[in-house]
Amino acid sequence: MTKLNGFKKISIAVFISGNGSNLKNLLKHSFKKKSKFTINFVFSNNFKAKGLNYAIQYKIKKKVISFKNKKKAEKKILFELKKNKIQLVCLAGFMKILSKNFIKKFNGKIINIHPSLLPKYKGLNTHLRVIQKGEKYSGCTVHFVTDKLDSGKIILQKKVKLLKNDNPKNLAKRILEEEHLLYPKALNKVLSNL
Ligand code: GRF
Repeated sequence: MTKLNGFKKISIAVFISGNGSNLKNLLKHSFKKKSKFTINFVFSNNFKAKGLNYAIQYKIKKKVISFKNKKKAEKKILFELKKNKIQLVCLAGFMKILSKNFIKKFNGKIINIHPSLLPKYKGLNTHLRVIQKGEKYSGCTVHFVTDKLDSGKIILQKKVKLLKNDNPKNLAKRILEEEHLLYPKALNKVLSNL
């Protein structure tokens, strides 16, 4: 636990694979005086992840390891998490599935954000599938991570109404805006129960 401004803060790692807008948003929240958490480590499986620039910008320790050899990669990550005294992992657009062993070794303290109203539309291309199905609502969900894809206990969820002529791109954009509100809220909920 890091002590900042007289508060004890939970030390968090964020895992990303792409743009990292959720990482950027969580960083912004972590800098608030009363924030319960601090982001001390950023991990990516993708050397080209744009979001890594936020780690550089805010001088957060970062590591990139390819998942070609998943077992090896996970071993290295676990080592880094321990070394950096990380207490909770937030997946934010992390496109790899973590093994049962990894999750167990980290005591199940891993959460994820998914752009659908789980348990509906697990996996990829959620927005396209939601539109093709003619759903009235979609949304986003923050949940605990288990070894089953997008299936762990739900922490918080936010509904987003579909509009006439919605396409995957503009629906994704509206949902992402809600993700940026939901993730910090859900994280605070988890942290107050730790
Ligand atoms: C988000 O929609 C998230 O729910 C999904 O991937 C996207 C990542 O966006 N898992 P970003 O990299 O945080 O901008």
